[in-house]
Amino acid sequence: MTETKKITDMSDEEIKEEVRKAYTKVAQRTTSCCGPTSSGCEETYAEKLGYEITDLPNSVTESFAGCGNPVALASLQEGDVVLDLGSGAGLDAFMAAREVGPKGHVIGVDMTPEMIEKAKLNAEKLGAKNVEFRQGDIEALPVDDESIDVIISNCVINLAPDKSKVFIEAFRVLRPGGRMLISDIVLEATLSKEIRDQIASYTGCLGGAILKEEYLQFMRDAGFVDVRIVSEAPFNIATSTKIEARKPE
Ligand SMILES: C[S@@+](CC[C@H](N)C(=O)[O-])C[C@H]1O[C@@H](n2cnc3c(N)ncnc32)[C@H](O)[C@@H]1O
Repeated sequence: MTETKKITDMSDEEIKEEVRKAYTKVAQRTTSCCGPTSSGCEETYAEKLGYEITDLPNSVTESFAGCGNPVALASLQEGDVVLDLGSGAGLDAFMAAREVGPKGHVIGVDMTPEMIEKAKLNAEKLGAKNVEFRQGDIEALPVDDESIDVIISNCVINLAPDKSKVFIEAFRVLRPGGRMLISDIVLEATLSKEIRDQIASYTGCLGGAILKEEYLQFMRDAGFVDVRIVSEAPFNIATSTKIEARKPE
């Protein structure tokens, strides 16, 4: 019997391949129910996290895999250019697109081709003309320098093997004075080696999470200022945290 390789023995590229495989399956999901009952769907997972889903097709919500609602906190303005790191099937990008309006623009970046394909189909279904999805790695963003007003991200950076690179890239693409609003999983205490070794725990947004203070320090080291925790809630054995930061003028 072949032994499953441990995440802690993998290269960054091998880890990303495991993440891609896991989120290909999430992209193929066809239900968004949370606690399905015999009479159907009581509430979607997104609604459970506070999203007001009224007129979105299931294909937008069924692959949602966030751990918060960063758009709700982002105070987006009409005309803003927004970047969503790890945009999945596009829920946050579409929410942001409504707020920035036709003069604004939203770019979603994701490294899983099936997620990008689903998000593009969703954009077509919604007739969303101010949203585009680009396949790429958030550690090397396919986005121009200083071209973004607000960055959002929902439960993604924990999955990146090199979080420092993610924040350096985020800082590069933000215009001076631009803001970053993140929902992500962070840790209050170090995980056991057993949990960190497991592929499923990594792809499930736990094994790759780092200590909260280390996470905030990566942001400050990249150049962000006014780095602050907006709110926190227990999430499995970790914490779902909303973080706000700013690039200096
Ligand atoms: C937990 S899901 C969250 C998706 C979306 N933000 C949402 O709330 O539904 C993580 C997403 O991040 C993407 N992802 C993970 N690591 C990435 C990386 N290094 N670069 C780009 N996308 C990444 C995955 O493909 C997946 O779609």
